[in-house]
Amino acid sequence: MFENIQPAPPDAILGLTEAFRNDPNPNKVNLTVGVYKDATGQTPILNCVKQAEKRLLESASTKSYLGIDGLPQFGSRIRDLMFGADHEIITSGRSTVVQAPGGTGALRVAGDFIKTISPQATIWSSDPTWPNHPKVFAAAGLQTASYAYLNSAGTTLEFDTMLASLKQIPAGDVVCLHGCCHNPSGIDPTAEQWKQIADAVYDRGILPLLDFAYQGFGDGIEEDAAGLREFCRGGSEFLVSSSYSKNFGLYRERVGALTAVTANSDSAATVLSQLKATVRANYSNPPAHGGEIVAKILGDVELRDQWVEELTAMRERINLMRQLFVDTMKEKVPQRDFSHLASGRGMFAFSGLTAEQVDQLREEHGIYAVRNGRINVGGMAENNMDDLCTAIASVL
Ligand code: LMR
Repeated sequence: MFENIQPAPPDAILGLTEAFRNDPNPNKVNLTVGVYKDATGQTPILNCVKQAEKRLLESASTKSYLGIDGLPQFGSRIRDLMFGADHEIITSGRSTVVQAPGGTGALRVAGDFIKTISPQATIWSSDPTWPNHPKVFAAAGLQTASYAYLNSAGTTLEFDTMLASLKQIPAGDVVCLHGCCHNPSGIDPTAEQWKQIADAVYDRGILPLLDFAYQGFGDGIEEDAAGLREFCRGGSEFLVSSSYSKNFGLYRERVGALTAVTANSDSAATVLSQLKATVRANYSNPPAHGGEIVAKILGDVELRDQWVEELTAMRERINLMRQLFVDTMKEKVPQRDFSHLASGRGMFAFSGLTAEQVDQLREEHGIYAVRNGRINVGGMAENNMDDLCTAIASVL
């Protein structure tokens, strides 16, 4: 059975991280996968996480299974974080959460659930989007398609074209929207544009699925939820896949959630039963550790304050690196405009490099970027910025 199969191509993002690990160049720089690095090039464990883990270790009494939908206090605390503690969606009981192995696991549960309730639905993602979006949805058996988002240079949102494109999506289909810090471009709609997007999506009768993987990495915890909260309208239905890889630095713990907002509490109970059936047939029930850490931090005033401080420091550092990159590139290649990086948010931006230039950068300088030109600004540091920009200038 195995002898005649063809090798699968390496993953567009994680495949390059494997190649990076095997590269002997001592000055290599990895700007591929979305992982935050501090000034020393490390991806640190947050202090609040270490504290929470210590407390968990002391109080832990079992490793028995969690429920299919995960830890109840994790679900309620991340829901407060997304919607705000006293939101009507929470007080009226018209939402339900399943804890999932990472944001990717949550997206797959969403895909499986949509396939069950609406097998003919197509799911639409932005053009461009995270390359794993269409793969995860197709693996769930859904048809995939894309709606317009950026200008051809990847530097601005083409809002009117986006809106016109959304208005073409047939009723009953699903639209995947990046809640903040658009991956791969870092370019998000404004608050006013989010309102128009929500109007268009609901007028059309399309189900929104918000991929919300970077809360707190853009402008702040509350500010980054502004787009998502535009979808919180009386009796509205939508899905949110959220991830705690980045904002809690818990990448390898695989902690995320799928939240369904329904028209009323009866519907929430029915949806939960379907989500549980989906999870049971997929990974049975979620891993506990990451969810316990997040629940512990969000439920403790001191740890939560520490987390907000550490998250703010990561966000401010990324925004500093954005500006430093723009300023340094201006010195190296004054005729080329990189200012879209300074106004973008989150880890990612389009560098404007072609696939050939990205290959040259990797082969000649040990600098790794995604072949569509996406770079992870969160992986840059002060001490390598000059070399990095010199190398980029040399391939442009
Ligand atoms: C990325 O886009 O780099 C991150 O979302 C990590 C991943 O799994 O691809």
